[in-house]
Order: sequence, then C-alpha cells, then structure tokens
Amino acid sequence: MPKTAKPKQSVDVADLTKAQAKVEWKRLALELETHDRLYYQEDAPKISDAQYDELRRRFNAIEARFPELVSSESPSQKVGAAPSGRFKKVRHAVPMLSLDNAFAEEDVRDFVGRIARFLKLSDDDRIDFSAEPKIDGLSMSLRYEGGELVTAATRGDGAEGEDVTANIRTLKDVPQKLHGRNLPDICEVRGEVYMTKQAFLALNERQKEAGDTIFANPRNSAAGSLRQKDPTITASRPLGFFAYAWGEMSGQRPADTQSGMIKWFEHCGFTTNPLTKLCHSVEELIAFHRSIEEQRAELDYDIDGVVYKVDRIDWQERLGFVSRTPRWGIAHKFPAERAMTVLQDIEIQVGRTGSFTPVGKLEPVGVGGVIVQNVTLHNEDYIKGIGNKGEVLREGRDIRVGDTVVIQRAGDVIPQVVDVLIDKRPADAKEFHFPKKCPCPLHTDVVREETATGEEGSRARCTGEFACPYQKIEHLKLFASRRAFDIDGLGEKQIQFFFDEGWVKEPADIFTLQKRNAKLKLEEVEGYGETSVRNLFNAIDARREVALERFIYALGMRHVGETTALALARGYGSWDAFHDACLKVANGDEEAIAEMDALDQIGHTVIKSVAAYFGEDHNRGIVERLTSEVKILDAEKPKRNSPIATKTVVFTGTLEKMTRDEAKATAERLGAKVSGSVSKKTDYVVAGPGAGSKLKDAQKHGVQVLTEDEWLQLIGE
Ligand code: IVH
Repeated sequence: MPKTAKPKQSVDVADLTKAQAKVEWKRLALELETHDRLYYQEDAPKISDAQYDELRRRFNAIEARFPELVSSESPSQKVGAAPSGRFKKVRHAVPMLSLDNAFAEEDVRDFVGRIARFLKLSDDDRIDFSAEPKIDGLSMSLRYEGGELVTAATRGDGAEGEDVTANIRTLKDVPQKLHGRNLPDICEVRGEVYMTKQAFLALNERQKEAGDTIFANPRNSAAGSLRQKDPTITASRPLGFFAYAWGEMSGQRPADTQSGMIKWFEHCGFTTNPLTKLCHSVEELIAFHRSIEEQRAELDYDIDGVVYKVDRIDWQERLGFVSRTPRWGIAHKFPAERAMTVLQDIEIQVGRTGSFTPVGKLEPVGVGGVIVQNVTLHNEDYIKGIGNKGEVLREGRDIRVGDTVVIQRAGDVIPQVVDVLIDKRPADAKEFHFPKKCPCPLHTDVVREETATGEEGSRARCTGEFACPYQKIEHLKLFASRRAFDIDGLGEKQIQFFFDEGWVKEPADIFTLQKRNAKLKLEEVEGYGETSVRNLFNAIDARREVALERFIYALGMRHVGETTALALARGYGSWDAFHDACLKVANGDEEAIAEMDALDQIGHTVIKSVAAYFGEDHNRGIVERLTSEVKILDAEKPKRNSPIATKTVVFTGTLEKMTRDEAKATAERLGAKVSGSVSKKTDYVVAGPGAGSKLKDAQKHGVQVLTEDEWLQLIGE
C-alpha cells in the first residue's frame, strides 16, 4: 500500500512546516490526479476507495492549513477527470458536483452543527434530512425536453461528461417519456446507474468463460457496460437506475423538499431507493447509518455508505457550495471490507468444461463478518501480474505462495486478492508455475482459449474433453444435481464413489446400475444397506421421465446453463426436434444454424458450443446411450391464459410448501417473470416468514403482498 495510505506513519499535518507542506501537497496533487484519471476515464482504479479517501483527506487538511497552496488547478477544485474521448462530450447545464465524506459520528455532528450555525438556527429549530443509501455506481444526468429523454450524460469531470444516451435508453428504470402532466419544459433528473451483485457475478462468470476482462466490482462492470459503443451489449447487461437529484429545471420546481422531489421522480416513472428515509435529528441519522450497514450484505446492490441531505430546498440554496461540495449534504461512508492474510498455497481446480481456476489457499481471515479461506486467482496472467490494468489486482503485482495479500470481498460475495504487500514478501516466497498438463491421470495438454475475437485468452483449459476424468466426474455431478436430473441420494460424494469404483462412467450408467447390481452388490458396501439401495434405485427410476429443459441442461454443454437450456427447450418443443437441429448445426447446415440463431436468448457462442458438442462422436454416443434409458418430455409452452401470465413476481422469506426453485419454476411455467428485487413494476411479492427488506420495498411501492397460501390459491394449485 502506498505510504500515504498510512497516515499514522506520516507527520501530522499540524506539525508540517510550510516547505514540507508544499512538497507533500504537490506529490498528493499528482497522485490524486492519477487516481482520478484511472477511476473516471479508465474504470480501472488502482487503490481502494478507502485509500483514495485517505489521500483526499490529508490533501484537504494540508490545504485547510495552508490555503495559499490552493490554485484553480488544484484537485480540490475538480471533480473526477475529463472525459475519455470515446463518446461525444456533453456540457452539463448545472455542474455535477460531489459530496464531502464523513467517517466518524463526530464528523456527522460537526456537519449538522455547521449547518445550524450557517442558517443561524436556534436550538429549537429542527433540521430534517433526507437520508439515502449511497449507491456505489456511476452518476448520470438525464435531460428531458418536453417530457422526452434527449440526452444521458456521465459525470465526467463535473463540467463535461460523455454522451451515453443510446446506451441509457436500454435501461428499464429510465423512462423514455416522463409520466404525468404539467411537466417542466426542461428537466434534468440525476441519479446512479448500478449493476446488481447477482448480475455482476453472472457477467464475470461469462467474461471468465470467454476469457474477457474480469471486473473488480459491480461499479466497474456497470461502467464498462455503459461505455459500450454498441447499445445491444449494454442492453444485455442488466443495469438499474435510482433517481435522487436534479440539474436544470425550468419553471417552477415540482417540490420544495428533497423528499418531495423524490416522490415526484416516482410519479414521473423513475425508480427511487426504497430505503430512503426522512430523519429529524443527528441521532436518527446515526441510527440510519447503522441500520443500513446491517442490511448492506443482504442488499442486491453495492453501497459504500449513506448520504444525508438537508430536506428543505430553500435551505439547500442558502447553504450553497464550498468549492466542489455542497454544505447541505454529506456522505457518511462505511469502513472498507478488506483484510490482510498470507497466501499458503495455490491449487488448480478443473471445472466441468475443463477450464482451470487457480484457487489461493489462505490463512483464514475474517472480512466483513465472514471467514475467508479460499480466494479465486482467476487465471495464469493474473497470478503473474501480466496485462492487468489494475481492474482487480494492483498494477505491477505478481502473486507468490508465501506472500502477504490484501483481500477484498467484491460485491460482498467473491473474495479476491487486490494487493500484494511486496515489502512483506519472504525470501522463500515461491513463484507459481502454471501447469502445462492437466493434473488428471491422462496428463492432457493445456491450451489457452481463444477469445471471441480470436486472440489468445487468459483462460486455460484441458483438451481432454470427456476423456478427461475430471471433466467426466464434474459432468456426472452436474448431471445428477438438483437443477438437472435431481436424483435423490446421488450427491457429489456418491457420484465420486461410483466413479472411482468404475461403476458409473457416463450418465447412462446410472440407469443401468440396478440391472448390474446382482454382480455389484451395492448393499454390501459400507454405508449402504438394503433400504438405502432400494431408495436409491427408486429415486433413479423416478427420473426416467425428464423435462426437456432439464435434459438439455444435464448434457453439460459449455455456455448452456439453465436459462439457455430453457430457451432451447421452448424453442424446439421436443427432444427429437432439438436433437435433429443439433446434428444439423454440427454439420454446418446454414438453415438450421439460422433457425437456432433466431431463438430468443440464443447467440453464436451457444451455437458454437452446440456444434462442438454434437460434432464429437464420443458425445453423440453418450447422448444416444442415455436417450435409450430415459423418456424426455416435451417442453411446456408458457401458458398465456394463466392468472399470472406476463406478471412479475418476487419471492422472499422462507417458503414452507415448496422450495424457492420449485416456486420459480411453477411461476415461469405459468408465464410469469420471477425477479430478485422489488420495484414499481413488480406485480406480486410472495412473502414467507423472515421476509425483510423486500417486504418493506413492496409496501413502499404499493405492491400486492401475498402469503404462500394466497399465492397457491391464485395460481390454482
Ligand atoms: S447526491 C452534489 N445522493 O456519490 C452531489 N449522490 O460523492 C449530489 N451517490 O457523485 C450527489 N448515492 O455518484 C447523491 N443518494 C445519493 C447518492 C449519491 C450515490 C454518488 C454520486 C455522487 C457521489 C458523491
């Protein structure tokens, strides 16, 4: 970590001589400028937000003590950095500024005290604050003229941003046309574009498969998704938008308070953050901070603190700004979720599709309330520190066994290494040699995949395909798993046992186990008895009939996850039709390829993978032997006349009569869309015991809440 991030070691600002201050001011100004550029223009920050804040705090403290150092070029006078030049520039009619930070309760009390003094309020006067989560995304200014969206611009340097209108039009939370009457002729709505943690994880998974950039956190992936030249790419990346501020507004402002403006945004068709709360005292602000911090891990989007804003807009106007930040608002940040530990070993995991993931084994350490022992090291280049632009790992760092590393829980979920403390590197730290051969007994060669553009990707893969025992076993595990054939009593441990014994080498073998048992005598194996063997065979028999989408998913084709399998099943309707199409696609039949391409959610990556799978004799054999053992049911077309067709449903809390997966499958079968978060567009929230923030969201948006029984009644089950 840079020295400046450890202020305890540097001289107290109060003790600096003027000459020292001048030198340090210059160095910090340069550092801040560099980090601003990396953050705003390249979406590739090299230091954490907490480290940045620390630099900024020290810089501000120096300027506060030696105001003569401040010039118009000072980073304290700018917000962010100039646009990167990839998009048309847009000058903001009203500059987009930034917020000052508070870290301690004391800072919040000072903030409120300053406001009371500035407004010359007496002790009896109450100041109301709008308290809002601080969304860790990208701020955006949306300009509406005559009620129509005309421009969407990023913040850029605060004065000039980038025109990302075409991309922003793909966001469902951004109305193309404002709802309501008597709208201001010109109206700029501002807020935050973000990506949910779930979408971020799924996107990184896809990026990883394709050997593309891995994003460090949802914020960077939102930024990357927004900076696409092709809006269809942005459209494929689910981005959300919360409205919380405004810029130019012609005529009379629709409300006199921040909270009133937020209500107005909702009337206009925007989504606003459901956790926003009106607070009436410092105590309430601090309680709000605590309560939001407690909910932080549960939220499906990243936040890095909360924001307090004086609610009365006339007071906001009187308070005004001090250089780049308002006097009427402040960000009360959360401490960063990072920790330091030692990397003890690196292991290679071979996935179902043969891809290698190096996993770092850590000395266990707590980060944000969770004990972390494993950390993904992504790929070979990441470990070597090659080609890393600081998106995740601090630039120029390689990772060795024995190193002291800083880990972070990105998106609150996957821990990863973000820094290596070179100063602490022991002399015997070992460089990791990425395997050239698969660790499987076949020792097949490892190749680096091609990216979509034909360049060498960063992802290494075993070339053995289903001949590689690791891939075979991983495929068998997937095959029997809950979302595929869902065979009770055939979990990962049992599969491993049958595989090691040589009793199950491919999926069809599962269905012939019973026939072969006269010889195998499973009931004599330790841990099995007559009853459990009978139960297992019954469970296997119960799955001799299988839904088409499950069957397709269970084949284990690359890039064919559950959603894709469902799309294929619905597209072809029957196994025969699908199978026939796959064989044709593998043969390069252009008509069949075009037909598959025309299906909803299916693109060339899936088609390539289907062609590769069905192009292999070995795989065709596996499929043939399997289809002679099971009956594949035709796909159910979504029912359009069901009571929940086209409705959006959110499940929350514990369901008692069905699992979440079952509830989701039933809802989808009846034509509903199942979503993970509640918005105005949600039709029903089905809440079981223990439902938390989603229930509150439902109440806030006036969404109908159903008990599990009411839900079952509604769908007639
Ligand atoms: S109000 C004058 N409200 O935080 C600045 N900002 O450091 C008005 N942010 O640039 C900003 N959530 O990107 C505001 N509820 C919220 C916010 C929020 C996130 C971001 C925004 C802004 C930065 C300020």
